[in-house]
Amino acid sequence: MEKNVQNQLVVDQLRKAGCVYAEEEAELLIAAASSSEELAAMVNRRVAGEPLEYVVGWAEFYGMRMKVEPRVFVPRRRSEFLVRLAVAQISEGAVVVDLCCGSGAIGAAIASVVPGINLYAVDIDPAAVRCARLNVSGIGGTAYEGDLFAPLPPDLIGRVNLIVVNAPYVPTEAIATMPAEARLYEALTALDGGADGLDIQRRIAADAGRWLAPGGCLLIETSARQAERSAQLFDHNGLVAQVARDEEYDATVVTALKL
Ligand SMILES: C[S@@+](CC[C@H](N)C(=O)[O-])C[C@H]1O[C@@H](n2cnc3c(N)ncnc32)[C@H](O)[C@@H]1O
Repeated sequence: MEKNVQNQLVVDQLRKAGCVYAEEEAELLIAAASSSEELAAMVNRRVAGEPLEYVVGWAEFYGMRMKVEPRVFVPRRRSEFLVRLAVAQISEGAVVVDLCCGSGAIGAAIASVVPGINLYAVDIDPAAVRCARLNVSGIGGTAYEGDLFAPLPPDLIGRVNLIVVNAPYVPTEAIATMPAEARLYEALTALDGGADGLDIQRRIAADAGRWLAPGGCLLIETSARQAERSAQLFDHNGLVAQVARDEEYDATVVTALKL
């Protein structure tokens, strides 16, 4: 089939299914498919509502292509604010932990700006860890599978210069109101932060000080509504917390410093 005709057919199918960026998505699907059969299967998945990122196998984040498998959290553009804050905190040789790393996008983006960091990425979901391995190992990072800090090498205790976190923070009841692409396609463990959304943040706050080096810092994404309560969790555990907000990214980050 002639290329322009094929392109227009894909655009028409996507547009009919309600894809707002049908032209751009058609280009990405055509580039990702290695045969017309594969293209047809990919278009069908997308038309059925599967996020584009899972269909093509990557998500754009901080100008990079991060590998993502189905069910693994798709890195959000708002987390680029956390990356910007993070790179201002560290220099070459820093020990950086990306906790609840998902695809490892946040750590990988930081490593792309500050070369020579020692990056440790952790997630509890084996599929996320598989993706993180692909995304961070080429830049000197290591991905670990397990619960929060548990799988990290114990000799990092007291030596971590920066902990970056985007842990699940959606209150359980609010998950039903999330867009279908998140609610139906991303793993519940990637979204559900418990009754008030802060269950995992509470556990992180209780343990972070032990892993940070003196002068080290933790940056954690949260919602504008939860920010004050998130900050208090870290204050109550001996860190000095502040809330940073960026309207352009619609992003809120708590920074918690170990003096
Ligand atoms: C909101 S997603 C964020 C992923 C990644 N940080 C990002 O921004 O793209 C939260 C991640 O936390 C992971 N997670 C949930 N509970 C965890 C736990 N107890 N220990 C480690 N990771 C956990 C999930 O598997 C998921 O990948």
